[in-house]
Formats: sequence, structure tokens, C-alpha cells
Amino acid sequence: MTEKHLLKVPQHVAIIMDGNGRWARQQSLSRLEGHKRGSEVARDIVTAASRIGISYLTLYAFSSENWRRDPNEVSGLMALLKHYLETEATELNKEGARLKIIGERSLLPNTILNLIEEVEDLTKTNKKIILQMAISYGSRAEIIHAVQHIAEKVRDHRLDPNKITEQVFEEHLYTAGVPDPDLLIRTSGEQRISNYLLWQVAYTELVFVDKFWPDFTPEDFMEALLTYQNRERRFGTAA
Ligand code: IPE
Ligand code: IPE
Ligand code: MG
Repeated sequence: MTEKHLLKVPQHVAIIMDGNGRWARQQSLSRLEGHKRGSEVARDIVTAASRIGISYLTLYAFSSENWRRDPNEVSGLMALLKHYLETEATELNKEGARLKIIGERSLLPNTILNLIEEVEDLTKTNKKIILQMAISYGSRAEIIHAVQHIAEKVRDHRLDPNKITEQVFEEHLYTAGVPDPDLLIRTSGEQRISNYLLWQVAYTELVFVDKFWPDFTPEDFMEALLTYQNRERRFGTAA
């Protein structure tokens, strides 16, 4: 299967990279080894997406709820994230990728926050692909955050409640300015959304892949894109 076969490339692909822990258990490795392998796969998929001509890729790396995991796993994930940012910054920049983090930044350790700001700044003029990494991200928290900002504007008479449209609301989400995902892929066989982009996936095509994330390959990615191509999107219109 080659890239030429792709007639209709989705503009925005979102992925729930799930199954690192189960993959590790299957290989008799630690969960952290699973996450490590998972971060390597993420790197390959970013490269593949950029080469295919996808304009936006949103990866779910760490959820608001993942903070409740064992502290050792959480600190291991933070260390891995730090390593990813340090080692991938130059490569992302070379690929023409712009990195944006979506999520509750105030919960992240300062070292990671500083690194994120550095990489976002380094890549801010890049246009080939926008890589949104969802870290400390929860969609309900994102929606509440937007509502708080809108309420403040109304309170201060900067916004008329009658003028709160879907577009105005979207401008207050972390994903402001980014079109909704066309395709959402979740690996690991689970078929749920797990608090990911709830507002944004209203009309997104969902593809569930029965493989753990560390086993997911660029070929599997191409296959998911082909599945997407064969779907008929209606957006509420008659068939
Ligand atoms: C996804 O893999 C990565 C994160 C949530 C950080 P998991 O760690 O959820 O792996 P499973 O689902 O337990 O196998
Ligand atoms: C979703 O996976 C979050 C990420 C992949 C980062 P989880 O493993 O946390 O989701 P649940 O708990 O299976 O719903
Ligand atoms: Mg999981």
C-alpha cells in the first residue's frame, strides 16, 4: 500500500494511543517499558502523518484521570515526556512540525512546562503539520475552562449572552483555531472515548484498532486512513 492510493486525506486525525500497559505485560516487561516503546511508535506515526500530508495530528498522551495512577508510573511518564521533548524538538522542527500542548498546564511540573514553552516557541512558525499533544488533558475540564472564561466576559459586559454561538464557544477551547478531527483512531481494542475531545468529535469518523499501541505500525495507520476513505460522512443530511 503506498501513499498514492490515498485520494481523500483527512485534514485532522486524532489518536487515543492505548494499550502500552497490556502490551508490556504480554512481553513480561514493566509498564514503563511499554510507555517507552509507545513513545517510539508515536514518533513514527508523526513522521508518517506529516509525509502523507495530514495537516493536524492530535495525540492523547496523558489524561486528567491518568494523574490517579500509581505515583511511580506517573513520574516515569513525566520523565519520558521530558526525554521526548528534549530529543524530538530538533527533529520536529526539521520536519516543519509545530507543537502545541492541549491540557491543564498548571498541573505539570515546572521543568516540563518550561520545555513545552521552549519547543512551542521554537516551532511556532512551522506550517507543514500541527502536532497537538494532549497532556494532562480532559475534555470535560476543557469545557469547564471555556465556560469560566465566557462567564467572566459576560460578567464584565464584554460579551452579550445572545452572542454565544458555537463558534464563540470553540474559540475558548484549548483547540481554538484547529478544525474538528475528521478521523479518530483508538488502539487496544477498547471502544470508548475516555474524555477525549468530546465537543470536537461530534461528527468525527471513529476507527477502533484491535492492536496495542506499541504494535501499531505506519501500515496500520494507512489502513485506518483507507477505512476512513470508504466511510460516507453525512453531517445530518439524508443518505
Ligand atoms: C496508554 O496505555 C498510555 C497512557 C494512558 C498514559 P495504558 O497505560 O493505558 O495501557 P493499558 O490500557 O493499561 O494497557
Ligand atoms: C486514555 O486511555 C488516555 C490515553 C491514552 C492517554 P486510558 O487507558 O486512560 O483510558 P481508560 O481508562 O481505558 O478509559
Ligand atoms: Mg489504557
